[in-house]
Amino acid sequence: MSTQKVAAWSHAETFVAPSEHVEAAARRGEQLGAAPVPDGTGAVLQVLAAAIGARAVMEVGTGAGASGLWLLGGMPADGILTTIDLETENQRAAREAFAAAGVAHQRTRVIAGRALDVLPRMTDGAYDLVVVDADRAEYPEYVEQAARLLRTGGTLALTWSDRESDPANRDDETRTLREVGRSLRERSDFLVSLLPVGDGLLVAVKR
Ligand SMILES: C[S@@+](CC[C@H](N)C(=O)[O-])C[C@H]1O[C@@H](n2cnc3c(N)ncnc32)[C@H](O)[C@@H]1O
Repeated sequence: MSTQKVAAWSHAETFVAPSEHVEAAARRGEQLGAAPVPDGTGAVLQVLAAAIGARAVMEVGTGAGASGLWLLGGMPADGILTTIDLETENQRAAREAFAAAGVAHQRTRVIAGRALDVLPRMTDGAYDLVVVDADRAEYPEYVEQAARLLRTGGTLALTWSDRESDPANRDDETRTLREVGRSLRERSDFLVSLLPVGDGLLVAVKR
């Protein structure tokens, strides 16, 4: 990629400024060791939620609520964000972030627990958008759950790693992402694209 192209893509990271509430949640997430989505990724999540009019969103990996706030910003006023995290401290921070941003209490369902314990209890075909930003080792199982949870035409977004693009990187996490990407590309029930925002955002639409 040319230097000019690289500069253009890094410009995309700051093209949409985060709200003060997203900034505060991101700072809190960093303090808690729950890395918030980069602003470029957050802006795409917000646009995706708005583009598909996502009323029901499932998020895996609440952190301190930065990605949740981006998503809520794109969802219709009656949309509900269900978000799962196993760390109660992160969840407390996210609840505070949602309240500080003036999000009505009934618009968020913050569920405590391991994603793979919680997701199987959720209803088939009930979600417009599933966003995954949690344990990379579990991505294959999250994708299987998302395939079940999404309605036809619903969208899956997986935060990615820029290490995946280099075949020289063969650590477990990278190999798992590579396998998830390959299997999603090969599925006839998903249309896939890897977006160059943040460390990458893999987006797939359920057909
Ligand atoms: C990268 S942070 C999420 C950041 C958040 N999406 C944001 O933008 O603010 C990952 C989160 O996933 C949570 N997590 C990790 N493994 C998990 C699991 N198996 N089930 C549920 N949550 C998990 C962590 O506690 C952490 O808060």
